[in-house]
Amino acid sequence: MTASSDVDRLRTEFLAELDSASSERDLQDLHDRYLGRKRGAVAALLKTVASAPADQRRALGASANALKQEVDEALSARRDTLLAAQTPAGTVDVTLAGRDSGLGHRHPLTILREEIEGIFSSLGFEILHGPEAEDDYHNFEALNMPADHPARDMQDTLYLDAPLATQGEADPRPATLLRTHTSGMQIRYMETHTPPVRIIAPGLVYRRDTPDLTHSPMFQQVEGLLVGEHVTMADLKGTLECFLRQLFDADTNVMFRPSFFPYTEPSAEVFITCVFCQGDGCAVCKKTGWLEILGSGMVHPAVFEAVGYDPERYTGWAFGVGIDRVALLKYRVEDIRLFYDNDLRLLEQFPY
Ligand code: DAH
Repeated sequence: MTASSDVDRLRTEFLAELDSASSERDLQDLHDRYLGRKRGAVAALLKTVASAPADQRRALGASANALKQEVDEALSARRDTLLAAQTPAGTVDVTLAGRDSGLGHRHPLTILREEIEGIFSSLGFEILHGPEAEDDYHNFEALNMPADHPARDMQDTLYLDAPLATQGEADPRPATLLRTHTSGMQIRYMETHTPPVRIIAPGLVYRRDTPDLTHSPMFQQVEGLLVGEHVTMADLKGTLECFLRQLFDADTNVMFRPSFFPYTEPSAEVFITCVFCQGDGCAVCKKTGWLEILGSGMVHPAVFEAVGYDPERYTGWAFGVGIDRVALLKYRVEDIRLFYDNDLRLLEQFPY
């Protein structure tokens, strides 16, 4: 018998058996008997190729391989036919592979916000969310910034209705605005809770700024507030140092410099070792070796009075950090506007 007639015989036998296969199980059995690595007939045939007479080897190899492919394709075609017969028209074939819609990526600012939330959660802080459309009272007034306070100019406000200046005797409606910072969340929380207080409040804030490399009219902050008895500035320093070293680098140095915010006294601007030059001095840190990262201070007694806390009994500290600015430094992104462009070339560089 010639080698090629072996192939033909096998094909004939297989086709006859395939014809009578009527279940998934029959097909699996056929697969094992013809293609199975150990006892498969086609596999056995392929093994004989090497020992075939030299002049037949090539042709035998080709036709045995063709048979192998034919058997494989016939089995899967038959499997599809069987499945189709089992699936009544109009029903869903749940065995069909789904269409891959692709996984998106988490936004860098989301990743960072969640990281910050994780650090403060582990320190026992509660995470709070509040309204972006805020009233004048919570955004300014209760934070020791009455209507004519010059500190209001530090942040250019976007009003949703009558600015305070047009109010007066005739129109006592309080102005609604897009919050210029998350500090109003300090008031919202303390109004409804008694000390001790340990919260952070992340969220979007808005200012009338022309977009450029470092400014966006919408950006994100995280506010922090801790109130209790005997809370000191040493607690503030220790907590922020712990936070910033986890966020950036265990070697990061933290510097506090006197500053001014109406709702804290004393107030401090907080700097970290420049992430670009490790403190040696470079163009980004203007040769100082330090980068300003957040504002903070001891809660002003006037703020405690506004929420009905006794300033003789309680002390506390607060801070506000811009997430976008941290992201620019941490991820070495050069333009804050990139965070709001939804350009996949940026977003795809961050994990799921
Ligand atoms: N609200 C300030 C800002 O938007 C940041 C800030 C400074 C928040 C000092 C605070 C603080 O809680 O104590 O620039």
